[in-house]
Parts: sequence; structure tokens; C-alpha cells
Amino acid sequence: MTDQEGPEITFGQIDVDLDVQEILLAASQHDFAKLRRLVRTQSALPDASNVKDPETGYTPLHSAIAACEPETEGAQIDPDTLKSGAEAVKLLLQEGAIWNDLDNNDETPGCLARRIGATELYELIVDAGVRAEMLLNRLDGYEELSEDEEEEDDVKESGAKADEEGEGEVAPELVEVSAEQAATILSTAEAEAQALETEGVEANPGVTNARYLDSNLNIQQDKILDSDQNGVMMQWESDIMKKSAVALLPRPGLKVLNIGHGMGIVDGFFQEQGPAEHHIVEAHADVVAEMKKRGWDSKPGVTIHEGRWQDILPGLVGEGITFDAIYYDTFAESYADFRDFFSEHVIGLLEQDGGKWGFFNGMGADRQISYDVYQKVAEMDLFEAGFDVDWEDIPVPKLDGEWQGVKRAYWVVDNYRLPLCRFMD
Ligand SMILES: C[S@@+](CC[C@H](N)C(=O)[O-])C[C@H]1O[C@@H](n2cnc3c(N)ncnc32)[C@H](O)[C@@H]1O
Repeated sequence: MTDQEGPEITFGQIDVDLDVQEILLAASQHDFAKLRRLVRTQSALPDASNVKDPETGYTPLHSAIAACEPETEGAQIDPDTLKSGAEAVKLLLQEGAIWNDLDNNDETPGCLARRIGATELYELIVDAGVRAEMLLNRLDGYEELSEDEEEEDDVKESGAKADEEGEGEVAPELVEVSAEQAATILSTAEAEAQALETEGVEANPGVTNARYLDSNLNIQQDKILDSDQNGVMMQWESDIMKKSAVALLPRPGLKVLNIGHGMGIVDGFFQEQGPAEHHIVEAHADVVAEMKKRGWDSKPGVTIHEGRWQDILPGLVGEGITFDAIYYDTFAESYADFRDFFSEHVIGLLEQDGGKWGFFNGMGADRQISYDVYQKVAEMDLFEAGFDVDWEDIPVPKLDGEWQGVKRAYWVVDNYRLPLCRFMD
């Protein structure tokens, strides 16, 4: 290249930038016809629905929503603008726009809609999030199933006995996703999953249950941290634990099963309710040692089951033990683990007549829209598994100093939604 020749890429880059700006402009003007043309056919960009403005980080979804913001703070959004905004948002979502991409202000399109009071647009994005997450969860199951089948083939080839437990149980609903659909959905959903942290019911992305159970714990007066300084359990959750225990175990003489002892907060409140039987499943050796040090093994009605619930619960079902109340609050488990818990195990353990169960509802709690999406995802999966759920809102006090020394503030939303689940009538 000589000095006179400009770098070729510059001209190409200018074209690309112009294309990006044209799409973002059409989105912000809610110019439906032009936007559709640009994202569907005319643009040379491979993923036109997800282009980004380099300065603001706005995607077309952000642009369409931001354009609804009234000029005067606190003013109502003009209904016509809201209507055309909703059309633009629907179009973009249909064309594969990622519902939870972040702009340079760390806001997803849904966060932006919520901030400017565009509730209708917020709900559209929440619904898109629910669809994407449901599909992603199904595809995870699909991948697991393929792996299981491969393993099963390996086992059969080696002449060993195939493990019968749980085999093929997720297959019927999964075959409805064709390979072509799966590929399209997967590429969008995988990008989306990066922003929505669904790695644990307690929401600690990147920590696996096996790694956690292997790590040394730092058990303090007001919190438990794992060896990466992730908050395993914290004192500020006490009010939530108390309300959960009382809702699940309203009177003395009932049988309760708690999965995950942690700091023993919920178990302490269960004890106050005077249970006839109080079973606790705990997998971490440090927590078990601490429990014994504090005399939990000799408290009234208490039986400690040392190990992972995945290994313990089938034995309890085998013995025919049932409970009036079950509580689930583990750490570093995936949503798939949780779904497996309630769709495969609760049915054999919960009293058919009036039994209630609950869980620590911390999924996606580091962002309101993620919390709302995961409430709906869980509700749909619970329904599919045969449970009704009532939610009670509990205000969470402002948490600031609590996060000192903790790797990540896993709770940001204002209200905790306490779930109370029962078998459907
Ligand atoms: C968030 S803490 C529970 C806090 C408890 N609700 C309380 O009130 O203090 C999670 C607990 O689940 C335990 N745990 C994690 N994975 C588990 C598993 N697969 N089976 C049983 N316990 C598990 C952890 O060791 C930890 O003690």
C-alpha cells in the first residue's frame, strides 16, 4: 500500500456505519415499512436487527424505545408514539432482535422501557425474554438428552447395563423443535443468555456445584463466602427466611424437609414452629461440620442427611417418607437442576393433601427485567409440573454495606417475590 492509498477498509467501514445509522434512525422514527425493508432484505449487514451505535451502544430496540421518552421529565408518553413504538419493537423481536443486549449505559432495552415508564413496551420485552429463555432451557435439555443417548450407546456398546433412571423423560416435548429452528433460536438465545444470568437459583454465574462443594468455606457471623468470595448465604435474607418458614409451616406438629442448611436461618425458624419431624439435606462438608458444632444433630425432630439432594431424595422417596412442607435453597445449581428438583422429586415427597413447598427466589435478581422474566419462566414450568404458585411481595431494604468483601451483589431488585407452591387441584 502506498501513502496515497487510503486503507481500503475505511470505505467499507463508512458503508457499514451508514447502514447501521440508517437502521437505527428508522427504528427511532418508528418507520415501520423502512425498518422492515432494512432488517429483512436491503441491508448488507448480516445481523441487521442487532446492529449497535458505537457511541451509545443502542441497538434498534433501544432506539425504538428511547424515541418514546417524553421531552419533559415526568410527562406521559404520547399514546400514538407508544403505539408506533410497540409496532417497531414487535417487528424487531420477530426479526431476531436480542431482548437483553446491553447499551453503553448498562441498560437492556427493557431497562430503558421501564425507566421511561413505557410499561407496554417493557411487557413486550419481558414476553420475548420468557420465550427465549424457555427455548434455551428446552435446548439445554435437548443437548443433555443427546449426550445421554451418546453415553447410553457407549454403555450398550461396552456391554454394561444401561442406567434406567430418568431416561428419555424430556424427549416428547423436545422433538417439537426442528433442527433448523434450533439453530436459529440457539444463536439468538445464546447471545441473550450472556446478559441474563441464569446459572443458579442463587444467581452466581460461573460457579459450578461441584467446584463449590470442593471449595473451603469462610463461615462468618453474618455471611458464608466460598473460596472465590461469592456470597453463599447472607444475614440480610433473614426476613425472607422467616416469612417462608411461617408460610410453609403454619402450626406445630408438621413434617418439614429443608434442602440447603447454609447459616441455618430458615431451619431456626422452622424449629420455632415446633415441627414433628425436621429433615435437613446438606452437601457441603464445612456446613455439616458447623451444623454439628452448633448442636443441630440433637435438636428436636432433626435428622441431618449429609450429601447432595440428588443422591439423598430418591432414598427418602423409596422409604415412603412424605412432608407437609419442603423448602429448596441451594447454591451454584443451575435452573435445570431446580426444574429437575420440582418436576421429578417433589411429587414423591410432598403430602398430596395440603402439602406446600417453596424455594429461595433469587433467579435474575441482579436486574429487574431478568427477575420478571424468570418469575414467568418458573411459573410456566411449575404449571407444567402440576403446581399452582402464589407470590407474595416482600420489600427488601436497601443493601449497600452488606456487599463489602462479597464478589458480586447478587440482589438488586426492590421486592422479593416469595413463592408458595401446591399441587394443582
Ligand atoms: C444459600 S444456602 C442455604 C441458606 C439457608 N436457607 C439459610 O436459611 O441459611 C445454600 C446451601 O445449600 C447447600 N447445597 C448446595 N448444593 C447442594 C446440593 N446439591 N444438595 C444439598 N445441599 C446443597 C450449600 O452447601 C449451602 O449450605
